[in-house]
Amino acid sequence: MGRTNEPPRLPGGSFAAWSRDRLAMARLGAEECGDVWQLEPGVYVAAAAGPCEAVLRRAQDFPKAASPLFPPLKWSSGAPTAEERGYAHAARMRGMRAQAVAARIGQIAPRTARFADQWPPGQDVEVLPLVRHALAETGVSYLFSEDAPTLLPYASRLFLAREVLVRPSRWTWPRWIPSPARRFRTRQQVAFTDALRPVVRRRRSSGRLGEDMLGQMLRPSPHYGLLPEEAVLDTLPGITVATFETPSRAAGWILLHLARHPQAAGRVAAEAASLPPDPAATTNVHLGGLRYTQALVSEVLRLYPPSWLLTRCAPRQTQLAGYTIGAGSTVLVCPYTAHRDVREYSEPDQFRPERWLDDSGAPTRSGGFLSFGTGPHGCEGTALAMAMLTLLTAQTARRYHLSEPPGPGPSHQVTTLEGLAPVGLRLRATLRG
Ligand code: HEM
Repeated sequence: MGRTNEPPRLPGGSFAAWSRDRLAMARLGAEECGDVWQLEPGVYVAAAAGPCEAVLRRAQDFPKAASPLFPPLKWSSGAPTAEERGYAHAARMRGMRAQAVAARIGQIAPRTARFADQWPPGQDVEVLPLVRHALAETGVSYLFSEDAPTLLPYASRLFLAREVLVRPSRWTWPRWIPSPARRFRTRQQVAFTDALRPVVRRRRSSGRLGEDMLGQMLRPSPHYGLLPEEAVLDTLPGITVATFETPSRAAGWILLHLARHPQAAGRVAAEAASLPPDPAATTNVHLGGLRYTQALVSEVLRLYPPSWLLTRCAPRQTQLAGYTIGAGSTVLVCPYTAHRDVREYSEPDQFRPERWLDDSGAPTRSGGFLSFGTGPHGCEGTALAMAMLTLLTAQTARRYHLSEPPGPGPSHQVTTLEGLAPVGLRLRATLRG
């Protein structure tokens, strides 16, 4: 029997306080009010793992809004139908699932290795742009193989368009107004699509579809037939940016932890000694051997989930954790607080990669891990992200000892607007002896 009362509201809670320090407010809300709380009338926060998972899994009650980021272009043949969306998803997953990623480790590893190759030793370096560049090369070539060099510059500009779009602005423009940022986004999306279209046509007319993710999307399925060209083109800008945007935020946090925890970094470096000297010879067996490195990556993703707040709505009145959520409400799902709940993780604020390994050093899966979301909109790129991040971490720690630059100031600024990121992070790399 659901309660008819609404979840508690944080005394003194308001959007003004939220804007000042979102992480602190999220923690305070969870501590003072419990597993579900109210930020403002009609805005709820799911703070603990149980309600977070319930919201993400109950997609009928808590639907996700269509991504406004790269909407279908005007001249596309209408918005894709539900059937086309389902087919596009299934086709993408053929190229993204764990076995598909495992088969391509030898192509991923040389690209992630370029991050360490490009780092000038002995200098303080701003890490995020450098790691974003390496991961963009890795992600874009995962999607488009030999066509990646053509598409990479357009992909970088799509990322820029996204940055401009999410930058806080004094005005909240109605969605239909072509604000300057939206016009810039559309120009970049058109440019990317114009560069991709001849690639799609060439592959289809030559019959050489390719083994990469684009190739998977171009293959006819016995059930749906051929995915229309516009549906292929509309789905790819978002996926392309996804291959490197969130992973670069994650990589920033991981590299910071390598710098702050030299013993853990040493253990990663020791494990990485098992990698072949030529990264192209790396296989999924090598990757599977990097157990501690994978545990470290999971632990950093737990402490600093790069997508720390996910948004859903409740079109109809419904119940959550025994509370009534009114029709038309916004529900914010907070993996950050869910991961720092002592009921899920002992000493939740401590950095302990070992918690992800059992006594024999094998990976364990702890419940309540939501960094990749869950349910029907859970992350499509989990396997690719884990492979890229594990390899990049091992290859970097094998070569370098990382440290924060000396001096009184912080090495970075934590931003929480679009994701949790160590913006401006500067680190120094010195060659391991
Ligand atoms: C560390 C890296 C990554 C993290 C932490 C991450 C996290 C997430 C999370 C939390 C969601 C769920 C969003 C929601 O429920 O609203 C999501 C969705 C998604 N992710 Fe990732 N992601 C990562 C890397 C990637 C990569 C490499 C790709 C590759 C294409 C990718 C593609 C997607 C897509 C397409 C969705 C949307 C699924 C849907 O709405 O149905 N992600 N990701």
